[in-house]
Amino acid sequence: MKPVIAIYPGSFDPLTNGHLDLIERGSKIFDQLIVAILRHPEKAALFTVDERRQMLESMTARFKNVSVDTFDGLLVDYARSKGAGAVLRGIRAISDYEYELQMALMNRKLDRRLETVFMMPAEKYSYLSSRLVKEIFRHGGSVRGLVPKQVEERLRGKVRRVSPPQLSPSAREERLLRGKVVRVSRLRPASAAPRRKARL
Ligand code: PNS
Repeated sequence: MKPVIAIYPGSFDPLTNGHLDLIERGSKIFDQLIVAILRHPEKAALFTVDERRQMLESMTARFKNVSVDTFDGLLVDYARSKGAGAVLRGIRAISDYEYELQMALMNRKLDRRLETVFMMPAEKYSYLSSRLVKEIFRHGGSVRGLVPKQVEERLRGKVRRVSPPQLSPSAREERLLRGKVVRVSRLRPASAAPRRKARL
C-alpha cells in the first residue's frame, strides 16, 4: 500500500503544547507528517518564520516520521507538490468546526483527492491557542504547561510584558477583601468591636 503523507498546516505563532499533542497523534496514524508553516504575507507574526521553524524542528526531532517545512500560496498546491493525500487539522471545540469545515470542503473542491482529517487534542489543551498564549504572556500571566519551555524562554526575549497596574494601598486592601464576606466589626480591633449576646 502507498505510504500516506499528511500535511499539518498552520501559523504556529508560537508553537503550543496543543500543536505538539496533535503532531504526536498524527505521527501515529500517518506514515509521514509534514508540519507546514504558512508564510503569511498579510498577517503580522510575533516570531519570524525561521524562529518558528527552529522551535518546531527541535520540539519534533523525537518523531522520526515528522518533518518541518514552510509554504505559501494555496495549501492544495503545496500538498500536491509533496505527494500528500491528507491534511491534518485540530478541532478543539464546536466553535472551530464551522471554519474548519469550510476550509476542508473548499480544499476538497480545489483538489478532490485531498482529504482533511480532524483530530482532537487532549482535553487539557481544548481551550489553548497561540493568540491567548501571547496575550497572557504580554500581560504578565503564566504560560507554564501551555507551551514548551523553549517557547516560553523565547517569549521572554521577544515580548515586552505590560506590568500590572499599580494599586494604591487602600485599593489593594479593598481588592484583598473583595470576594470575602467580611463584617466591618471584624476589621475593628477586638477591644473596639461590640460584643453580641449569644442566642440561646
Ligand atoms: O493555524 P491557522 O492560522 O489557523 O492556519 C490556517 C491555514 C494556514 C491552514 C490556512 O490559512 C491555509 O491553508 N492557508 C493557505 C492558503 C489557502 O490554501 N487558502 C485556502 C484555504 S481553503
